[in-house]
Amino acid sequence: MSDFWSWYIIILTLGMIFFVAWLGITYRETKLSNKDQEQLTSESGVPTTGHNFDGIEEYDNPLPSWWFWLYILSIVFALVYLFLYPGLGNYKGYLNWTSTGQWQEEVKLAEQQYGPIFERYGSIPIDKLLEEPAALKMGQRIFANNCSSCHGSSATGSRGYPNLTDDDWLYGGSAETIKTSITQGRQAVMPALGAVIGEDGVQNVTAYIRSLSGLSVEADQVKLGETVYKTMCFACHGIDAKGQQLMGAPDLTDTTWLYGSSIKYVSESIDKGRSGQMPAFSAQLNEHQIHLVAAYVYSLTRASN
Ligand code: HEC
Ligand code: HEC
Repeated sequence: MSDFWSWYIIILTLGMIFFVAWLGITYRETKLSNKDQEQLTSESGVPTTGHNFDGIEEYDNPLPSWWFWLYILSIVFALVYLFLYPGLGNYKGYLNWTSTGQWQEEVKLAEQQYGPIFERYGSIPIDKLLEEPAALKMGQRIFANNCSSCHGSSATGSRGYPNLTDDDWLYGGSAETIKTSITQGRQAVMPALGAVIGEDGVQNVTAYIRSLSGLSVEADQVKLGETVYKTMCFACHGIDAKGQQLMGAPDLTDTTWLYGSSIKYVSESIDKGRSGQMPAFSAQLNEHQIHLVAAYVYSLTRASN
């Protein structure tokens, strides 16, 4: 922050505090005791300020002293606080406290406490970790904090977010591949082909794709669609349409659909393209944490088999 804005904040803050202090102190006394104006009284004889609205009168009573002292106390608190902690412009506070400092302190403590545990599990191959319930529990916790927002709390996914508990993988289900997916992230590229193959082309190839999964379709569309497939799609999805894990192109012959199996959704995938993105976690999680969460994900398919 520049010196100008620093002083701007300091003067404004302190000025405000002294102003409200002055206000509280001067108004502690009743009006009448320090002004020699004519005494105004209500009908019942209580001194008033003379303010009267709709028959409601403002009495000229002094502030209750409990209220007054609480008020002064809060002002003193504010001044002490601003002396000890950062708050006044660039002034760092007597205690030199910072939120990052406190956070770093906590991180350091946590690392001292958990570091050795992470390290120990980090050196055990994922296959072996499946026999360590405590390690999987830690992996599950990492999953809940970092992954469940997209993949669901039980990792079953939702539209556009793959189910990680079935044995159907876009990129592959080996422990190493799962780890790579998490560390580096994944960016799927299904190009928008509507403009290339035209509206009819989209509808025909949609019918062809759906026929591969045993969904009911119109036979004449399937034939035309197959031709489109064999020119435009096989490079990524494979000649047998069973997908290609190298580029995350899904198997189009099974009954698992990332974006839905209806004519509407399948034709939308082809017409507009899809670009599912799995964020990279190499900056957020350390390698041991990735190892643990990968073990947890890996264990999900083992358990269901
Ligand atoms: C912002 C949403 C998001 C978050 C957070 C997220 N993922 Fe993903 N993940 C995705 C998407 C989307 C895909 C599919 C990418 C694609 O369409 O190719 C994916 C794919 C994957 C895959 C590959 C699946 C396959 O079939 O090959 C794995 C494994 C995975 N995620 C694990 C995780 C783990 C573990 C975490 C937490 C550390 C995580 N993801 C956090 C969105 C997310
Ligand atoms: C450049 C490679 C590439 C080409 C060419 C390609 N696809 Fe894809 N396709 C992908 C990828 C990668 C995905 C996964 C998208 C994602 O995960 O977000 C995908 C997803 C899909 C989906 C969604 C599947 C689901 O489970 O919901 C359909 C349907 C599809 N493609 C059909 C086709 C058809 C039909 C063609 C040819 C007209 C085609 N694709 C051409 C790479 C390709």
